[in-house]
Amino acid sequence: MRSDANIAGPMTDPVPGPRTESAGEDVSRETLPPMDDTPIGRAAQLAVEALGRAGEGLPRPEQTRIMVVANQKGGVGKTTTTVNLAASLALHGARVLVIDLDPQGNASTALGIDHHADVPSIYDVLVDSRPLSEVVQPVLDVEGLFCAPATIDLAGAEIELVSMVARESRLQRAIQAYEQPLDYVLIDCPPSLGLLSVNALVAGAEVLIPIQCEYYALEGLGQLLKNVDLVRGHLNQTLHVSTILLTMYDGRTRLASQVAEEVRTHFGQEVLRTSIPRSVRISEAPSYGQTVITYDPGSSGALSYIEAAREIAFRGASVHYEPQQHGRVGYQNNQRSMAEELK
Ligand SMILES: Nc1ncnc2c1ncn2[C@@H]1O[C@H](COP(=O)(O)OP(=O)(O)OP(=O)(O)O)[C@@H](O)[C@H]1O
Ligand SMILES: [Mg+2]
Repeated sequence: MRSDANIAGPMTDPVPGPRTESAGEDVSRETLPPMDDTPIGRAAQLAVEALGRAGEGLPRPEQTRIMVVANQKGGVGKTTTTVNLAASLALHGARVLVIDLDPQGNASTALGIDHHADVPSIYDVLVDSRPLSEVVQPVLDVEGLFCAPATIDLAGAEIELVSMVARESRLQRAIQAYEQPLDYVLIDCPPSLGLLSVNALVAGAEVLIPIQCEYYALEGLGQLLKNVDLVRGHLNQTLHVSTILLTMYDGRTRLASQVAEEVRTHFGQEVLRTSIPRSVRISEAPSYGQTVITYDPGSSGALSYIEAAREIAFRGASVHYEPQQHGRVGYQNNQRSMAEELK
């Protein structure tokens, strides 16, 4: 059972739980009552209330948890997962740093962080050994959330790093030298397995793999897992795949539930019970420089990320996790095993 002493922050009104894999999309649009503040302040406040569940909070990790969000496949929801989990955790009272390690800078954009070419960025940290504290910016509408932005310079860093001393551990050193207290560091990786991703794997202890619920979901994952093993064997013995999150789940399709089941069969425990539905609100939020948690806190997408964050927080603290809603419907899988891809 949870110990209340280990719980952060008071919680307020209960909100409906997110959809599980048995349910269709049926996006919930209900939001909490408006407040007379600035629009973004109001959104943040709404988010805090959406996060509230009567009498509950989230356990805080004893040590900073450094989570590497990786999958070399493009467009599977790495960035969306990074920013929305980060916002969910921060709005629960955790101090969270997002490190944008993708030259596309999508995580920076989604958090409303300026990342034009002249902004001090993670490139300066990796290539010029600039202290992380000099590039970290606060995310304005979410207290406790910070971002080390990526600028387009980072595209050249893969090559520039090749000839550098300790080229694989530059990010690790920068994080170790960062003195601000943090509960979580979430690193958003690019869709490749180059030196940037290796720096993330050396810096982190946990790998979080978002898997999109589509037919070729597991394709190429073998290579990522091999890299995780290599890094663990040579550079970072604490590294392990701690979390798999199913993303863009469309409950209307049989394929999505089959893929989800395959992933659960292959990975088992690591797969979060919560999966993220395909949701228009999730895809709209970045164009407003916001996470879905602040953009539409009552939507199914926001609630699912909030629930996934809860699960992650409870797992990290080894405290019993009670899902808000469960009961996936089983199905008969007569198709070729997608897990074969990994063998
Ligand atoms: N649950 C979802 N529902 C609807 N759209 C989503 C969802 N998750 C992500 N998307 C959209 O899918 C696209 C890809 O998501 P995202 O950028 O998070 O993937 P990524 O893995 O970071 O991509 P890349 O490999 O290019 O970095 C984005 O347009 C995003 O808004
Ligand atoms: Mg991305």
